Amino acid sequence: MTIATLFLIFLLNLLGDVTPKSRVWETVRKSNFSADTDVYFKSFRELFNRTYKLPSDYYRSKSYFKNSIKRHAYLNSFSATPNCAKYGINQFSDLSVKEFRELYLTASVATTLPYSGLKTGGLPAKFDWRDKGAVGPVQNQQACGGCWAFSVVGIIESAKARSVQPWEPLSVQQVIDCSYKNQGCNGGITTRALGWLNQTKLKLVKQSEYPFKAQTGICHFFPQSHDGVSVKDFAAYNFSGREKAMMGRLVAWGPLAVTVDALSWQDYLGGIIQHHCSYHHANHAVIVIGYDATGEVPYWIVQNSWGTSWGNEGYAYIKMGGNVCGIADSVSAVFL
Ligand SMILES: *[C@@H]1O[C@H](CO)[C@@H](O)[C@H](O)[C@H]1NC(C)=O
Ligand SMILES: *[C@@H]1O[C@H](CO)[C@@H](O)[C@H](O)[C@H]1NC(C)=O
Ligand SMILES: *[C@@H]1O[C@H](CO)[C@@H](O)[C@H](O)[C@H]1NC(C)=O
Ligand SMILES: *[C@@H]1O[C@H](CO)[C@@H](O)[C@H](O)[C@H]1NC(C)=O
Repeated sequence: MTIATLFLIFLLNLLGDVTPKSRVWETVRKSNFSADTDVYFKSFRELFNRTYKLPSDYYRSKSYFKNSIKRHAYLNSFSATPNCAKYGINQFSDLSVKEFRELYLTASVATTLPYSGLKTGGLPAKFDWRDKGAVGPVQNQQACGGCWAFSVVGIIESAKARSVQPWEPLSVQQVIDCSYKNQGCNGGITTRALGWLNQTKLKLVKQSEYPFKAQTGICHFFPQSHDGVSVKDFAAYNFSGREKAMMGRLVAWGPLAVTVDALSWQDYLGGIIQHHCSYHHANHAVIVIGYDATGEVPYWIVQNSWGTSWGNEGYAYIKMGGNVCGIADSVSAVFL
């Protein structure tokens, strides 16, 4: 890496831009990535603190890193529309697509009924549950495929924070360990977890009482007298073709747990996802916490559970209308 590039990275870090790491890598990418993969792979390892135990791991990861650079070029070639998503180097760039899929795309969906309610009139052009103190910080599921539990617990925390401030973290690990019809860190279905919580009236305890361990464990039971949050009811609908109605439900019901196809999210750096995100293969659960329809491209604001260095500080923006990424296919809300 040249002195000039290093200085640029240093400057960008100083500026503390919105997503420092992503921005840095976007800049590095523009400065002709293909010129010297070895140098950039070294910088990637420094930036994301990667050590490989075996030489074979090193070479395999480097070849995946090269492949990811090719993917980025392809994905970015569609980025002509305003505010289009950008793809580039992030913490997943040394994983193969298969590895990424196996580690992170572990959710599936059950069929939900089409939503038949009316759309709500007089909605604001922009709405964000974070403004009401009803959204917690971005979580990091690490190498545990428990996205389905993060999205379910996330909407329960939000529902609670809407009535009792301040927002308080509840145990994701409890849902991972105890929701026996799901597969813990190997995957699950949001509506199945909600059905189970609604049926058993299990009390979700505080995060501090049952902390996240990033692996499936044995279910720890608490006495029914123990303090916790239980679910009164939930809703699960298919809003495909009805995203206007979904906006109204988001405002009325609170943050929504949704299941999307997140294959292209391996390379996402930020911006509004408008292309290459299909609606046929739901594989990842996330939370819709707001929308912004004031600009040229209206979008959903989606909280992910891959840490804050991914996407827009941990969030994805997805174009509204057209069921991009299948965002409207399986939508759930919870009532306490
Ligand atoms: C990037 O570097 C390669 C190899 O040095 C060179 O062939 C190519 O033209 C460069 N591309 C740009 C856009 O500068
Ligand atoms: C980098 O990784 C090593 C080994 O996994 C760890 O011990 C160290 O604390 C990490 N450093 C940072 C800055 O994350
Ligand atoms: C949602 O509805 C659309 C359109 O009817 C359908 O293609 C899709 O498979 C449904 N998705 C689910 C998860 O039920
Ligand atoms: C949730 O449980 C209640 C009983 O407490 C039941 O009346 C309701 O139908 C359940 N909701 C769903 C969506 O299954």
